[in-house]
Amino acid sequence: MPSKVPRLQIENLSRRYDGRLVVDDISLAVMPGQVTCLLGPSGCGKSTTLRMIAGVETQDSGKVLVDGRVICDGSARVPPEQRNIGLMFQDFALFPHLNVAGNVAFGLTGPRAETDARVAELLERVGLGRYGASYPHELSGGEQQRVALARALAPRPRIMLMDEPFSGLDNRLRDGIRDETLDILREEDAAVLLVTHEPDEAMRMADDIALMRGGRIVQQGAPYNVYNAPVDRDAVAFFSDINVIRGTVNGALTSTPFGQFLAPGVPDGSAVDIVIRPQHIKIDFDRAGRGPNPTVQDGTPARGVVQRARFMGSESLVEFRMDHDGSILKATVPNVFLPSPGKALWLMLRRDRCFVFPARV
Ligand SMILES: Nc1ncnc2c1ncn2[C@@H]1O[C@H](COP(=O)(O)OP(=O)(O)O)[C@@H](O)[C@H]1O
Ligand SMILES: [Mg+2]
Repeated sequence: MPSKVPRLQIENLSRRYDGRLVVDDISLAVMPGQVTCLLGPSGCGKSTTLRMIAGVETQDSGKVLVDGRVICDGSARVPPEQRNIGLMFQDFALFPHLNVAGNVAFGLTGPRAETDARVAELLERVGLGRYGASYPHELSGGEQQRVALARALAPRPRIMLMDEPFSGLDNRLRDGIRDETLDILREEDAAVLLVTHEPDEAMRMADDIALMRGGRIVQQGAPYNVYNAPVDRDAVAFFSDINVIRGTVNGALTSTPFGQFLAPGVPDGSAVDIVIRPQHIKIDFDRAGRGPNPTVQDGTPARGVVQRARFMGSESLVEFRMDHDGSILKATVPNVFLPSPGKALWLMLRRDRCFVFPARV
């Protein structure tokens, strides 16, 4: 039976710097073989959280548990080197005077034959089986990254903490290394806490995303849920461009040029933001000014005039100035769709893709 005790658990961690709360009551749990991602903008407290778990930073309150055992709280504190936690950072430094095998073996203790075998196994696993005698400066950035991964995994850590580990790599290398790294971490059954400010990276790698802002976790869940059921306007905007249509509530409904939207629980007279991603706007022809008919799925169409259209590779981005209020709405369309500026077209909002939030004041 798989154990139900999280490999890593943190409870109510907080940390202040100069009186300012930079990590504010963070709790989460990671099971063995799982990747949880702390995702948030720069400065939101991700690295500080990781450093407290690693033990190189001390929390003001809260605790960290590994396999159900407290490793630090208000009274006890296991030193970093005894936590059995692997670390990988963006500016990982290999030891320049040690060859690749020496770097990977660095944290290992035990009989020479065993450590040699472990080093050989890991180098093989990261695709560097023949590079044991090479020195770091002889390797590419991607290869150095793999050595760093092998080094971090060598002592069989039960937990891996990774802080923006791929941001130093160029785009083409990155996807491959991310996937390989994930495969290896899953095989090793480590619990992984990965920090990143890039939504794409989190979506690609995480089983679970904890979206952070201002020191707090504002939403947590599977990537699909965080993307498709965002808690607020900023949570939508963190993953993509957004369009915002402002409305006022009357009887739990708000009326807009795109028809009526439900705004349950929002008091009459208050403003709401209807938020929709550019890829969920539908475009239709002008039909001599009549436009398409309203539908249940897409509501009422509204007319706009193309301001500009750009080809982005996998999609085209079209900006419209809306007839009803002069606002700009952005729509993306797969492949090539490049209508001329000045052309009138009709826009519809996919109802199931609209998010309605109390307006930000
Ligand atoms: N040692 C420190 N002393 C003072 N302020 C710090 C220190 N470390 C981090 N901070 C501040 O705490 C906030 C969170 O930092 P950090 O955890 O590095 O964020 P992130 O990793 O999400 O970019 C930032 O405003 C940062 O300037
Ligand atoms: Mg950081």
